[in-house]
Amino acid sequence: MKLHLLLLLCALSTLSLQSPTQSPDKCECELSSTHPFPRDKLNNTQKDAADCNNDVTPQKALELESLLLGLERRLPELVEDMSELEREDDGGMYGVLALHVIHNELHEIRLLMDRLNITVTTNRQQTQDTTQQISAIRAELQELETYDTQQVIKRDLINKRLKRDLDQCRTGQRPTDPPTAQELCPHGRFQNVSGPRINTAGEYPGSFKYGAWGRDPKPEEGKESWYWYVPLTASNRYAHYVRLYSSLSSLVVGVSVPGNVLIHSSNPTTNTVQGPNVVLYGGALYYNCYNMDAVCQFNLTSKTVTTLQLPKGTRFNSKSNFCHLDECYPFTDLDLATDESGVWVIYTTNQDHGNLVLSKVEDRPEGLVLGQTWHTSMYKQAVTNTFMACGVLYATRAVNKDTEEIFYSYDTTTGQEQFNIGIYFQKIFPNIYALNYSPVDQMLHAYCESNMVSYKVIFDRHGHV
Ligand SMILES: *[C@@H]1O[C@H](CO)[C@@H](O)[C@H](O)[C@H]1NC(C)=O
Ligand SMILES: *[C@@H]1O[C@H](CO)[C@@H](O)[C@H](O)[C@H]1NC(C)=O
Ligand SMILES: *[C@@H]1O[C@H](CO)[C@@H](O)[C@H](O)[C@H]1NC(C)=O
Ligand SMILES: *[C@@H]1O[C@H](CO)[C@@H](O)[C@H](O)[C@H]1NC(C)=O
Repeated sequence: MKLHLLLLLCALSTLSLQSPTQSPDKCECELSSTHPFPRDKLNNTQKDAADCNNDVTPQKALELESLLLGLERRLPELVEDMSELEREDDGGMYGVLALHVIHNELHEIRLLMDRLNITVTTNRQQTQDTTQQISAIRAELQELETYDTQQVIKRDLINKRLKRDLDQCRTGQRPTDPPTAQELCPHGRFQNVSGPRINTAGEYPGSFKYGAWGRDPKPEEGKESWYWYVPLTASNRYAHYVRLYSSLSSLVVGVSVPGNVLIHSSNPTTNTVQGPNVVLYGGALYYNCYNMDAVCQFNLTSKTVTTLQLPKGTRFNSKSNFCHLDECYPFTDLDLATDESGVWVIYTTNQDHGNLVLSKVEDRPEGLVLGQTWHTSMYKQAVTNTFMACGVLYATRAVNKDTEEIFYSYDTTTGQEQFNIGIYFQKIFPNIYALNYSPVDQMLHAYCESNMVSYKVIFDRHGHV
């Protein structure tokens, strides 16, 4: 009995000695967020990773320390009691009372050890999680770096296709029908949305609730990796400049090297931006012109604005917005969109009784022209946003604050409508004020309550042209 107790005591002492020497090796790294991609600046994330060892969370450290302190106090008491028991040992008979005291003491020490074990295990788990998070971030960054290479490969494939078509023309095998929207779609059928892949507060965390961001699908030479950002800087309704970033990392870190391109020095005024759903295409910003039922095209190079008058009866100035339950998003009458074929405008008119209308916006030598128009039977106020992908219009609705559903589509080739698509994606913020598809990388760019979030669109034939 005595031997057994002493052995146990010995084991406990060893453990208690090990624990304090082990704990300084433990590292508890506090990432500034639990989101999948650095929500705060890239710089901070990198710093976090580097300074991992210094960033011990005080609460966990305190818990460990007090548990160890408890053990330190209990063990001498136990040793003391044990010695007393030995002194009282007269011929193998232990005092029942003394045994009882020691039994209780051991029980309490065991509880302390258990809690210590749990704390240490939890800390270890958190360290592992952090390490995983850091390697995920690292992988994401590597992906960003290789992006430009993929871009070059994609270009090459498109060139080959053009060359093949050219050869067919030469040999008189010219295809008789114009290609359909589906045929134009190099990726196949729109299947799902994954992510969020990127989630960043950008350069002005929490500052501009409404706005839009993305990348130019038809960039000028040398600007292939650029990203743009248009915050609604006045009254959550108006904007007057485009802010440019030379890469996705610059946007996340918040370093705008090309800086702002000003549409006008005052805001709002004639031909400045009204409403969040703007897009950049071919070096020009397309948007709802201030106080007009028209699309404006602002050429970032020549700094000139061209306007395109929409049909009579087009609703504007916050008359027919995107809505979510009772709340409508102000000044979302016009939604500009890009896809593989160019620029689109989604709006509604009195004669369409508030149902979505879709028109192609064409930049012809003679000026901006309203191309083919489609009339849908989807009531605009029943959707939270729309976007175009491969000639198909998609509409979303809010399921709840965490989930958004792509529920509706309109195929411009066949005129076919679908009301129950059921593609769900996870939101980080309840409201999406701008949503647009980027045909260069098949991403959905969302602007949500001053945060820039993006998702990957999964097609059933990804990667092949
Ligand atoms: C990160 O930020 C710190 C201080 O804000 C600055 O001193 C440092 O140069 C930055 N590092 C990079 C790589 O931008
Ligand atoms: C610590 O807990 C783990 C499981 O939670 C268990 O496997 C292990 O034996 C415990 N260690 C000690 C010393 O109690
Ligand atoms: C779409 O993606 C989600 C999450 O990644 C998954 O749960 C769901 O099953 C997918 N749906 C389809 C139709 O593939
Ligand atoms: C913008 O202006 C430049 C210079 O005048 C011109 O070369 C370019 O084609 C214009 N871009 C668009 C999209 O109109």
